[in-house]
Parts: sequence; C-alpha cells; structure tokens
Amino acid sequence: DLSAENAKVDRLRREFDVADSDLVSSSYSDLLLDSPQTLLAAADAAMRNAHAPYSEFAVGAALRSASGAIYAGANFENAAYPLGMGAGAWAMGGMAAGGETKIRETAIVGERVDHCPPCGGCRQRLSEFAARDTPVHLGRPGGAVTTVTLG
Ligand code: THU
Repeated sequence: DLSAENAKVDRLRREFDVADSDLVSSSYSDLLLDSPQTLLAAADAAMRNAHAPYSEFAVGAALRSASGAIYAGANFENAAYPLGMGAGAWAMGGMAAGGETKIRETAIVGERVDHCPPCGGCRQRLSEFAARDTPVHLGRPGGAVTTVTLG
C-alpha cells in the first residue's frame, strides 16, 4: 500500500511544480508516483517482450489494481489465430492470478501507433473488472497522453 508515499510525493510535486513531462521513465520515482506515465512505462516495457510475429503489431498494456499494484502484459500471438491473446488480456490474467478483481486505471502502448485504443476483445474483458469511468491512458512514456474512460 503506497498511499502514504503517494500523498507525500503529490505534495512535493505541487510544491516544486513537477509536471508529468518532467518525469524520467524507469526512475525510482516511478515506483512511487501514481501517474499515467508510470503505467505507460510498464506497458512499454511489456510491449518490448510481445510475441507478435504474424501481425508485427506489438502492444503492451498495464493496469493498476485496487491495491495499487501494477500488472502488465503484451500480446502473444499463435499460428492458430484465435489462440492469440491481446496485451490487456494478459495483464488482467496476471491481476486475477494475483488475487485481485478491480482495475483502477489502465494504459496501452502500441509500437507502430501513437495511440493504441484497446481492441474490442480487451474492452469486453476490461468491462468485467473495471467501471465505465475507469481511466484508459493512451500514448507513450514521456510523450503526449490521451486519457479516455472505458465507457
Ligand atoms: N492487440 C492488442 O494486443 N491489444 C489491442 O488493444 C489492440 C490489438 C493485438 C492483437 C494482435 O496480436 C495484434 O495486436 C494485431 O491486431
């Protein structure tokens, strides 16, 4: 539970006027900051391990659960097309295996596109574990972020 640390970091960021764009991806602060950049960095790291030899469209997703933990996944395709699974599905599977059922926010990164909205299958899966107003961050770590809601 990082809520006390996050509150302190929030206060310091306000005092020193630190914007999301000032943050360095993968630094220690990523572990403490509750920002879209944190999730985008986790999604981006997972994306680099995607198995997408058929579509050549690597995707990474990360979600923050109710406990504050981050779960990430990448798309893993299969020569038998329906066996392939989207990045969000793997992130949600990790969360479920970790014993959690509630998504607080999520982020998706696509290697070939600036914004990669979740595919229909992942939206359907997200809708089982997230509310309509759950934030979905689209972009790249260190870049412009568009935040929409699952709804
Ligand atoms: N893909 C995802 O993993 N998530 C999305 O939200 C968009 C699409 C993957 C599925 C497939 O492996 C590849 O991108 C091309 O559709």
